[in-house]
Amino acid sequence: MRTQPLPDFVSADVDLAGRTTLALPGRAAYVAEVSSCRQLAQLASLRSARRFVLGGGSNVVLSGDFDGLLLQMAIAGRELLAEDADAWYVRAGAGESWHQLVLWTLACGWPGLENLALIPGTVGAAPIQNIGAYGLELADRFQSLEAFDVERGRLLQLDRAACRFAYRDSVFKQQGWHLDGSHVVTSVSLRLPKDWRPLTGYADLAAELDHRRLARPDALQIADAVIAVRNRKLPDPATVPNAGSFFQNPLVSAELGGRLRRDFPELPCHVQPDGRIKIAAGWLIEQAGWKGRDLGRVGMYEKQALVLVNRGGARGSEVMALARAVQDAVRQRFAVELSPEPVLL
Ligand code: EPU
Repeated sequence: MRTQPLPDFVSADVDLAGRTTLALPGRAAYVAEVSSCRQLAQLASLRSARRFVLGGGSNVVLSGDFDGLLLQMAIAGRELLAEDADAWYVRAGAGESWHQLVLWTLACGWPGLENLALIPGTVGAAPIQNIGAYGLELADRFQSLEAFDVERGRLLQLDRAACRFAYRDSVFKQQGWHLDGSHVVTSVSLRLPKDWRPLTGYADLAAELDHRRLARPDALQIADAVIAVRNRKLPDPATVPNAGSFFQNPLVSAELGGRLRRDFPELPCHVQPDGRIKIAAGWLIEQAGWKGRDLGRVGMYEKQALVLVNRGGARGSEVMALARAVQDAVRQRFAVELSPEPVLL
């Protein structure tokens, strides 16, 4: 990479403290602050470097220094693309804050994203793991995205089918594109249907709305309730560094799920359309004795056992040691394998 002069939006030897919400230490050989597709095209010539795309840094565990090129996505812009009898169509740049996008659509009077309020991270990161909360997933409101194919130097448009969304999963993870930085999301378009209906079935959200005596909440009231529930259960990364849910809720076979339900009738679980059973990792971790328990300078959060927190000054190796200890405890007790949700860099 050093054989040619660096473009002016690329910096060398960059401190990554403050760039990820787990606040782990590390340096990157190069960081590109990408605010346009044109800049991505310029990066295509820097082929030799290992690449990784960073959004808000809310789903990344830094294991140490990164000997490659980090793409910090900063493409801005939000717009109403179109409106027809059925829906509003909205597009946002990959570098926009997801939560600010949710608030903006609500302020414009276009409901549909309220259940996904306060999810940290950027718009460009949202489709990678198909973010979801309180009974709604990005896939439910997704129209299309644009991604830059860095190797071939061209912009691709992917519709919903092409994204192959599943629970916390997409073609970007299935193809490893999120790890090799070969396809970089530049913008996301959403479809917000006009026949809006409140989605209030999720237990925590229903209880909060009930508490507020809102039998027929509007979208803003739902967003408010979601924000309150999240603030109560999930630590604010600004004060307690974390990466949200550290493990996915495991999807187990009907057979194993049935056995677990017989042995542990109180285990929260949901039968999936394909017959598999999704079980609550937070419950498994709590029962395995790890809720509110620390190992070194990291721990599993006292109000939500699924969230791994940095108590201050931790390194990536400590995070991974705790993750392994929790995985071991859950495997021993329940014969269930937990998969980390964040990417290990
Ligand atoms: N539970 C426990 N102990 C705990 C935590 C949870 O027993 O310490 C039980 C709860 O009582 C409940 C069940 O586990 O019966 C599920 O808990 P919760 O409603 O808090 O949701 P979750 O499955 O732990 C998922 C998402 C969150 C999302 C919430 C709300 C995953 C991996 N996590 O958490 O997403 O906000 O539902 O929809 O799917 C994220 O991905 O980073 C994230 C925060």
